[in-house]
Amino acid sequence: LRVLFVTPECAPWAKTGGLGDVSASLPAALAALGLDVCVLLPGYPSVRQAARNARKVADIRSAHGLPSARLLRGRLPSGVPALVLDCPSLYRREGGPYQDGDGVDYSDNALRFGLLSHVAARLASAASPLVWRADILHCNDWPTALAPAYLKLGLPGAAPSLVVVHNLAFQGIFPLDVAERLGLPPESLKSEGVEYWGKLSFLKAGLYYADRIVAVSPTYAHEIRTEAHGCGMQGLVETRANRLAGILNGIDMDAWNPRTDPHLDTNYDADTLEDKAPNKRALQAELGLAADDDALLLGMVSRLTDQKGIDLVLDALPELLARPVQLALLGGGDARFEQAWRERAAATPERIAAVIGFDERLAHRIEAGADAFVMPSRFEPCGLNQMYSQRYGTPPIVRATGGLVDSVGDFSVDGLHRGEASGFLFADATPAALVEAVDRALKVFADRVAWRTLCRNGMARDFSWGGSAGRYARLYVAMRAVAAA
Ligand code: ADP
Ligand code: GLC
Repeated sequence: LRVLFVTPECAPWAKTGGLGDVSASLPAALAALGLDVCVLLPGYPSVRQAARNARKVADIRSAHGLPSARLLRGRLPSGVPALVLDCPSLYRREGGPYQDGDGVDYSDNALRFGLLSHVAARLASAASPLVWRADILHCNDWPTALAPAYLKLGLPGAAPSLVVVHNLAFQGIFPLDVAERLGLPPESLKSEGVEYWGKLSFLKAGLYYADRIVAVSPTYAHEIRTEAHGCGMQGLVETRANRLAGILNGIDMDAWNPRTDPHLDTNYDADTLEDKAPNKRALQAELGLAADDDALLLGMVSRLTDQKGIDLVLDALPELLARPVQLALLGGGDARFEQAWRERAAATPERIAAVIGFDERLAHRIEAGADAFVMPSRFEPCGLNQMYSQRYGTPPIVRATGGLVDSVGDFSVDGLHRGEASGFLFADATPAALVEAVDRALKVFADRVAWRTLCRNGMARDFSWGGSAGRYARLYVAMRAVAAA
């Protein structure tokens, strides 16, 4: 089975968040199951640099208002083949995949990701520019979600397609008049099509035209059918409910393994949990926090946006600081949050450390060095950090939403001894509810034996891709059977 996995980011070549990690680890897991999987992604400078040995395999002629491009073929570090879409006029930019250095969306994102979607669709049709042609097109989030529309709107021999919703809040909305340059036929510019409240939405197009929709956790698959989490698309999602599934993300168990992690001061595992302590001291020293073994060191690694509930932690700080806790935050995003965290850390440097920026190494060191990991997300389609932290024996304190519900077992004495409890969940998106959860954690933390059991419960959980990759594979097979019938 030939699967084209099209994505706007793929670690370690290009990553802004969890989608980058999933785009690296899921295709590798699918390949291990014997599928012929290939990743297609744009040739940003970091990608061109990482894939310098990639060879040109096709020229893509300009179509509609989309520029011409080239396809280069290389290999990801996992060994999975990658197709790099080389189009310097669209992708050779100073900033990130979606935004310039100041955090402003590129004004031509409709074309940048329209081209990506268009080439992906062609590779999954009889118009493929290669001899290789996908049986299944696996799309990820809005930047690729126009591809199912192209497949349904006229490409010959179109393969079935799947849109994976990693985050429904990002919808790829543009003025409708860009449709002509994208080559979308006039008959598609209506609500039974790509139109969304008088605009063009890439995500809407994907949700409408894809054969299947997958949300990145079972709970999120339910949530996106509701007004609270549907971001205006709940009606459409509801009409497609019989084509919707929730599949929990897995993680790369090798890249995130405290026994072998090269970024740690001292490696450890569930049997040598005492070797976690030097990592806490090292983190405190590195970040200028007081060397305090008894404080509950709370870690956070996050995009600093509303989604992540960063303001809840800020508002809870006075209460938190009245308790024996320290905070180590790594993140970047909204300027107002960056500024607020800088100020709080400057005011109480021995208790709060805030590193603003993107730092893979420090992310690993926080997972290992913190006692507990905080994720008070307002919504969380899946979330990877709470899985990483459990693997590192760092129980997560999380809001009960989306994938956090599906991957963290809430503390109870019974649950602890049954091996099910692995962290702390709280329901309300309020500072008070967060503080209450931290208080529950402090109580268990004071009982060293119970805390160790909690850490080990998380470390024993299987977050590998095994089960979930199999679910994707079975879904592909079912899609192909329907398409062939
Ligand atoms: P999301 O994709 O919504 O940002 P996830 O929890 O799924 O949330 O994934 C976030 C990923 O990005 C994790 O691998 C996390 O370690 C990483 N990450 C987020 N912010 C930073 C940062 N400032 N520095 C390093 N890694 C980060
Ligand atoms: C999105 C979501 C996050 C999820 C990630 C990978 O960025 O915000 O919850 O883990 O995609 O699916």
